[in-house]
Amino acid sequence: MSGRLDGKVCVVTGTGGGIGRAIAQLFAREGAEVVGCDIDELAGAETVRMVEEQGGVMVSLQPCDLTQADRCADLVKIALDRFGRIDVLCNSAAKAYFNWIEDISHAEWTRNLDEELTLVFLLTQAAWPSLRQSKGVVVNLASVTAWATFPAMAALAHSTAKAGVVAMTRHLAMEGAADGIRANSVSPGIIETSQTKAQLADQDWTGRMLERCLLKRVGQPGEIANVALFLASDESSYVNGTDIHADGGSLA
Ligand SMILES: NC(=O)c1ccc[n+]([C@@H]2O[C@H](COP(=O)([O-])OP(=O)(O)OC[C@H]3O[C@@H](n4cnc5c(N)ncnc54)[C@H](O)[C@@H]3O)[C@@H](O)[C@H]2O)c1
Repeated sequence: MSGRLDGKVCVVTGTGGGIGRAIAQLFAREGAEVVGCDIDELAGAETVRMVEEQGGVMVSLQPCDLTQADRCADLVKIALDRFGRIDVLCNSAAKAYFNWIEDISHAEWTRNLDEELTLVFLLTQAAWPSLRQSKGVVVNLASVTAWATFPAMAALAHSTAKAGVVAMTRHLAMEGAADGIRANSVSPGIIETSQTKAQLADQDWTGRMLERCLLKRVGQPGEIANVALFLASDESSYVNGTDIHADGGSLA
């Protein structure tokens, strides 16, 4: 443990998923007390087991559907009851739905916005008073699809939601500045997780997605967790209202 987050209470969402789990594990290794959550009960509990096995401190709420404001309030309460403060909020939980404009239904469009964008707003709003007290940090998971289109990906709703996450982050940085709150996002390229696993099995699709990736490979969850760690720690004290592309050079 090198202690880059020593003494910090970090709420991380979607800790049952690939990137959220890697963030929970890394933050715990760096000395954070981690408060996780996931809508997937088994996956969320498994991450707690993994963090405890490595000697870390973590509590977690699952199942927890972050599209519900009362569940966001429950999660904040758990953090405050157990650790008394929130220093870092890392919003990783999301579920995307992929369809072209002529095929997507209004219901699917709304579901995508709820499950990728509104849940970030709801939990950030619930945690905001605590972040003001601690002069805390928000780290949001956006996406390269917020910045570019990929012909192999029917990401109409997904890219719209992630562009919203980038814009929300910028706004939060402005609104939080007077209270010492920083907010930044990280935009991953294609990362090997449960969300991409099925599509990555299609080599033709993967090849098309990697056409503009300078590194010519998919990323690993730990490579995104490293960026989240920098943004969560005091090392990024002068980084605010911005987005870091962690995409192997896909946007270069
Ligand atoms: N994997 C990629 O290629 C990639 C690329 C760009 C951005 N991202 C972003 O990174 C973040 C993490 O993605 P991942 O690849 O680890 O996906 P993942 O599916 O492995 O993990 C996401 C987790 O969030 C949980 N979740 C979904 N909706 C929820 C809700 N309403 N309430 C609580 N939990 C919920 C899921 O159960 C899952 O465990 C997401 O915001 C995603 O959009 C991923």
